[in-house]
Amino acid sequence: MSSRHAGKVAIITGASSGIGAATALAMADAGMDLLLTARRTERLESIAAQIRSRGRRALVVVADVSEPGFSQRLPALAQEQLGRLDIVFSNAGYGLERPMHEMTDAELRTMFEVNFFAGVALLREAAQHMIARHRGGHLLMTSSCVSKFALPSFGAYAATKAAQESVCRAMRFELAPLGIEVASVHPVSTTSEFFEQVSTRSGTPSEPIHEHAPAWLIQSPERVARAVMKCLDHPRSEVWTSHLVRASSALFTLCPSILDAVLRREARRQRRRREACSTPS
Ligand SMILES: NC(=O)c1ccc[n+]([C@@H]2O[C@H](COP(=O)([O-])OP(=O)(O)OC[C@H]3O[C@@H](n4cnc5c(N)ncnc54)[C@H](OP(=O)(O)O)[C@@H]3O)[C@@H](O)[C@H]2O)c1
Repeated sequence: MSSRHAGKVAIITGASSGIGAATALAMADAGMDLLLTARRTERLESIAAQIRSRGRRALVVVADVSEPGFSQRLPALAQEQLGRLDIVFSNAGYGLERPMHEMTDAELRTMFEVNFFAGVALLREAAQHMIARHRGGHLLMTSSCVSKFALPSFGAYAATKAAQESVCRAMRFELAPLGIEVASVHPVSTTSEFFEQVSTRSGTPSEPIHEHAPAWLIQSPERVARAVMKCLDHPRSEVWTSHLVRASSALFTLCPSILDAVLRREARRQRRRREACSTPS
């Protein structure tokens, strides 16, 4: 399929599964060439093969985004190997279920390295690259709905997501005069590998997504990918995939006591779940 984005080149981090993989395929469908990065080679190669079967180019770069200097190298690599750079989707990230007082300093810092510092380094470098070429561009970063309201046991994760949103908001107005768009993306419960990864990393029992989110809140990675594509056509500061959650976050800001009631209930639910799992059967 050809579109106004045909021939453009995008970098996607966290492209081996979920939202990143779905967005990579949506971008290829729109005629774009992709630099894909994450840590799992086979998964990246499988997405790359699907992109090539759509007649587009795909460059696979296997690495941990938090490797020092790695993110900064990506814009030059895209330019060198794919000939240009138009779009960056900084999406790699993970969550950890851990009350703040139980979190180690190393866990906290690693999460900020992966979710925040690596992505910000990529966006800054890409902005410099785009400014030098006077061709404009589009920078997007996957934040979350929890950037607006932290959940118990996900305080550190929510902090990384709020920090991402703040940086994107500032960059949007710094770069607008230079023709570079910036947006933060705020998915709600998405059927990726995210929650499975959360329980593996946290050592908590795995919980099917429908047990901690109502059905109306659950979305596919393709839903998020479509919203990202729409933002490329109609740039905006924040990409949301649920109007209801967006409206709720506004209500929570206006009436913090409503948010407190919701979070008290969620904390009780988490406690019951932990107790049930620690009770021998
Ligand atoms: N799922 C949700 O409900 C939800 C809601 C709001 C926001 N988000 C955000 O959406 C983004 C994508 O998550 P997802 O839902 O698509 O989950 P996912 O399927 O677990 O995807 C996460 C991606 O990030 C990559 N990644 C994680 N740590 C990395 C590291 N240290 N270095 C390089 N790559 C790394 C993973 O690749 P490798 O493992 O191969 O490295 C994978 O490609 C994340 O930023 C997440 O916080 C998700």
